[in-house]
Formats: sequence, C-alpha cells, structure tokens
Amino acid sequence: MNIHVTTQAIQGLQTDALVVAAARKAGKDEQGVQLSALATTIDGALEGLLSEICTSGEFKGGLGELLTLHTMGRIAAKRVILIGLGSKVTTQSLRRASAVAARHLQNTGAQHITLALQWSGTQEQARSSEVQAEVEGALLGLYTFRMYKQSENTSTDKTIAQLGVFLEDATAQTIVEQAIEQGRVLAEATNFARNLVNEPPNVLTPTELANRAVGMAQRFGLEYEVFDKAKITELKMGGILGVAQGSAEPPQFIVLRYRGGQETDKGLALVGKGITFDTGGISIKPAAGMDEMKGDMGGAAAVLGAMQAIAALKPRINVTALVPTCENMPSGTAYRPGDILRISNGKTIEIVNTDAEGRLILADALSYAVKEGFSPIVDLATLTGAIVIALGNITTGVFSNDEQLTNEIIAAGQIAGEKFWALPMDEEYGESIKSDIADIKQTGSRAGSSITAAKILEHFVGDTKWAHLDIAGTSYLDSKKPYQEKGATGVAVRTLAELARKLAV
Ligand code: BES
Ligand code: ZN
Ligand code: ZN
Repeated sequence: MNIHVTTQAIQGLQTDALVVAAARKAGKDEQGVQLSALATTIDGALEGLLSEICTSGEFKGGLGELLTLHTMGRIAAKRVILIGLGSKVTTQSLRRASAVAARHLQNTGAQHITLALQWSGTQEQARSSEVQAEVEGALLGLYTFRMYKQSENTSTDKTIAQLGVFLEDATAQTIVEQAIEQGRVLAEATNFARNLVNEPPNVLTPTELANRAVGMAQRFGLEYEVFDKAKITELKMGGILGVAQGSAEPPQFIVLRYRGGQETDKGLALVGKGITFDTGGISIKPAAGMDEMKGDMGGAAAVLGAMQAIAALKPRINVTALVPTCENMPSGTAYRPGDILRISNGKTIEIVNTDAEGRLILADALSYAVKEGFSPIVDLATLTGAIVIALGNITTGVFSNDEQLTNEIIAAGQIAGEKFWALPMDEEYGESIKSDIADIKQTGSRAGSSITAAKILEHFVGDTKWAHLDIAGTSYLDSKKPYQEKGATGVAVRTLAELARKLAV
C-alpha cells in the first residue's frame, strides 16, 4: 500500500472516500456534536449536510460511530465518511476511529482513501502524534489473516491501494511525513507479531518461529543467534528441556541483538514466552478452546515485533531479545507432575501441574538474562488464566520489583494506546510456593494465581530491575471488535518500542 501526504485543496481532492471526524459534546448542559475544523470546511462545501445530520440526532459522535455520505459531485471526493471520536478526544480515540473507518472502507470496496481526522489544529507536537495515530490505526484496522483462505487469496479487489493523509498547509509536510513513517513502522511491527500468533501451530513450530525471527533480523539488520537443543542442554536449561521433552519438535532459544547504545552498556532485555502450542501436557487441558493455545507464544511475538520496530526507529539504547520456545505436549516422554526440574541457575522446582509450563521456560531465560547482566529485564507471557478473570481482555497485568520501571511501562502504554495495571507483589504471596523437597514449588492454590506465577519468576531475577507483563487476556481476542478482527492483537509491541525510546539516553 502506498501512503502519502496530500496538500491539495480539500474540495478538489480526488479520492474514493474522505474521512473526517466529529466528537460528542461532553459538558453537563451541552449536547450534540462538534465537527472538526476540516469537517466544518467539508460541511460548507456540502451546503450544511453534515451539520444537518448532526442536529437531527442521527449522528451522535460516539467513538467509532460511522456515517457515509455520497457527495454526488458536490466535491471531488466520491464519499465522505464522518467518524465519531467520542466525548474525550485522545490519540487513542483517533487510532480507534481510524481503524473502524479503514476497516469499513476496505469491506465496502474503496481503493483510494484519504484520512483527514486531525483534531487539534497546527501545533506541531499534537499534529504529529495525531497523524501517527491515524496511520497506525488505519494499518492496524486493515489487518486481516487470510493466508489460508484460497478463495480470498485469488481476488485482489478488496484491498486499499492508496492511503492519503490530508494536510492543510504544505509547510508541515516533513513533520507529517515523519509521523506517517513512525505510525507505519509501529503498525507493521504489530501486524508482524499478529501474524506469528495467528499462524496455525502445525506451521509455526519452535523451529519455524526461530526461522521467522532470523528472517526478520536479516531484513532489519539485527544480530541473531539461535541455540539448538544441544546448546540448551550445555547451558543446563532444565526448565526448557523438561517442558520440551514430551514433544517431537526440538526446543529453540532465540537471541536477537539491537545495538544503539554504548558499547559497554548491556542494556534492556526483552524476554518472551514462546510455547507454540500448549496442550497442558500430562495435566491436559479441556478440549473446548484448546485451539486458542496456538497463541501461547504471544509473549515471543510481542518481543519479536518490538525488535522489528526498535530496529527501524533506532533509539540510542542496546536491546536484546531472549525467546525460549517449545511445545507442551503429553506423550510417553513428557514431564510429569511430581518431577523435579533444575533451572540453569541451579534452583530446583517441584512440578505440580504440567500446564504451568510458562514459568519453567521463563525461569531459564530470566536466569540467562541475569547471568549476562542485562538491566532492566522485561518479560512478556500469556502466563495465567487468572489474569483473564482479573482484567479481561482490556488491560495487561504488570508485576515488578521496581516502581519506576512499572510507571515507565504504564506511561509508555499510554502513548501507545495500550493499558497496563500493576498488581501487588507482597512477600506473603510467595508463601504458597514453598516446597518440602525442592527449592520451590511450581504452583500455589488457585487464589491469586497470577501473582503466585509472578512470584516464581521473581526467584530467577535476583536484584535486577525486572517487570513481568501477563498478556494472557490481551494478546488474543475470541470475538471481533469494530476496529479489529478476532485473533491476535499484537499487544505490547508498540508499548515496548516506546519503552525502549524512554529508556534511551
Ligand atoms: N497458557 C496458559 C495460560 C493461558 C490461559 C493463556 C488462557 C491464554 C489464555 C498457561 O500455560 C496455563 O495453562 N496456566 C495455568 C496455570 C495453572 C495450572 C497453575 C492456568 O492459568 O490455569
Ligand atoms: Zn499451560
Ligand atoms: Zn501456557
């Protein structure tokens, strides 16, 4: 798709659809709709049609509310799409509105669309983050996963070929072009992560995940290394080997390095859980919904997506991705409840439930990150069902030993339009994971089990600044939203890229 800036007079703009915005007036005594400056210009050219529809109450300006007007030659654009931004206009509402509009236009056969959603006028910083959000939103909204649908693969008519971003004064062109580029980079990295999660588990094996990571690293100029089973054995990564031993697929440990900082600085480590399919193992999961466990490598995908974005945005910081990946299968060679595994830092874990496999492979990866001296360490994992109960699919849970890092992640999320919420890590939560026969027990009771899982991980990070993001609820949608289809969300890619920028010198 071609994305470009359009500075032509808005009335003469040739396009299949021109997208303009309106907000809902939020004040106590105020009701009605407020058109953006650009929408007001269009309203003038259409002899008051837009304001008429707004005063009639037909269009209320709610977030994602969409109205189509055919212009019948009154202006050069064939259609005008009025999209609602809700009562509180933020970059996130622009992102969502843009996604809804782009999705709708793709589904109704538009090929050339022009976004004119900017809300707050010409102030440089505001305009640039708004344009970035518009472009990001459109590219995220247009995402589909149709690789395996032969019928849709052969027809090309339902794709948008040209995406214009309208700009009223040509002097800001360079800034707007930069904003477009940032939005494109972040959305493409998110969509890369979504593809990895949406791929079926017979295709995306641990070996294939490593291949995709290496392919991306080559395209984006990152250093890469993949540890095979022999190397993983040499490193004594007993957690990864234990989980992988029931599967015919060998485990892999993917390492990607981006160097933007000082030579001597170890920098940030991003660790991602890469279970390419989680059956639960011997403690097997129920059949209903098990197919969704192809997404149990969402943490790995987020980390790899973030590395792609970071490689393109080039912040002045060193960032290393560590991705342990394997399958969790039941078989005659599988690990069992009752087993004791030894993690690479020497600590032993008494296995209680083979479905709690994520913490085991992360324990090895975190130990490795600590040994290598990275700081801070941020891990991402579809770790617990309990976080889905606690926060739903809206907010990601944050568990950390460092308040400042927690706040930086939450702040990075606000910029990226992703929500994070810190959960407690008090000592008392660690009491249920004491074992009689090993250093720690793999699981506690069901109560507060997302926190218990985080407490296990904490055992492997020592004093290093660390945060764990449980994305089990936010990484995968089991039903579609107006701005996104069912399946992978690519959560945390943009937040991690933003975090790397924040931590850069
Ligand atoms: N991969 C699952 C967690 C999960 C659940 C991810 C729902 C996405 C959606 C994880 O490996 C798991 O099975 N965790 C168990 C742990 C329990 C056995 C202590 C859980 O949360 O039920
Ligand atoms: Zn599991
Ligand atoms: Zn799992």
